[in-house]
Amino acid sequence: MSDRRIRSYAPGRVNLIGEHTDYNLGFALPIALDLGTTADFAPDTVDGTIVAESSDESDVVTISPTSGPGDVSGWGAYIAGCLWALRTAGHDVPGGRLHIESTVPVGAGLSSSAALECAVLLAITTDLNLSRHELARVAQQAENDYVGAPTGLLDQLSSLFGQQDTALLIDFRSLEVEPVPMPVDDSAQLLVIDSHAPHRHAAGEYAARRASCEAAAAELGVPSLREADTDAWNQLPDGTNRVRARHILTENARVLAATAALHDADFAKIGELMNASHDSMRDDFEITTPHIDLIAATAQQFGAHGARMTGGGFGGSVIALAPADAADRICADLPQAISDAGYPTSTVRRVRPGRGAHLL
Ligand code: GLA
Repeated sequence: MSDRRIRSYAPGRVNLIGEHTDYNLGFALPIALDLGTTADFAPDTVDGTIVAESSDESDVVTISPTSGPGDVSGWGAYIAGCLWALRTAGHDVPGGRLHIESTVPVGAGLSSSAALECAVLLAITTDLNLSRHELARVAQQAENDYVGAPTGLLDQLSSLFGQQDTALLIDFRSLEVEPVPMPVDDSAQLLVIDSHAPHRHAAGEYAARRASCEAAAAELGVPSLREADTDAWNQLPDGTNRVRARHILTENARVLAATAALHDADFAKIGELMNASHDSMRDDFEITTPHIDLIAATAQQFGAHGARMTGGGFGGSVIALAPADAADRICADLPQAISDAGYPTSTVRRVRPGRGAHLL
């Protein structure tokens, strides 16, 4: 037994714009949050077993070095999946004790799972010298093949590459991450509004959206929707695949326009694009709910530059960009307005772009 301790931190994320574009090799503009997860790892040389506990969970999870998909479920599956993906890639993974603490709310669409994966990976791979892109891929493989969620790389790249007061333009074809300064001041504050809506059927619906996008790309004769022109959806016959493709293609264009507007500090323009993104997710991609639509519309009515659902959909959170007076009004009055309509009371959090994953 050694007394070695490795401590790491990885944030959750919120996406400003660019939803479901990641697995279509398009663009997104997320920020890392100033909320995150810490992992405290005490390696040992016993037999490669990891024993993990979290201050938010009652169960202690024991992960054997031979664990494979299906062996561990619940919150521990994200850790077991990362260990499994590392070993599958031929890496030697130490055993030991892991203690987890987090300020990222679970189930709010703010990537608490990516924060957990990235914090754990950073701590247990300190001796392996893996690049941040490799860590992101390991975490994605854990989600796809161990947990069974066919997600893209948005959450992990945001957590690993985040920078304070900076948004990240991610190109999911090249995997380049371009920092775009995003100071938060009185003209533009960021609010994350947690709906507290359970993500019902979210996993199956997510996979169905992905399948539609792949089918649309095949119908257009391109390897991914990234290779299609913005108006190529026009060539598809009426039906589901056509509107799914229209969301993705127009959303990529909105991300690039929002990035240009952010460089110009044109928050009104970014807001317009966020609202259009919400409409596209509601009407074309069909991943919002009446509850989420009401939160976004209420934030817009209360004076936000823009507001849209963020994350995979069917619940989770809305992100609003608002001048200070509108931000104050949203914080003060939106939760009541939403509960008056018969929905759970929302939680509004003021956030700012935070630092990415790092060792402590
Ligand atoms: C979830 C997934 C991401 C991404 C978003 C939607 O957060 O984990 O990979 O697809 O949904 O943009």
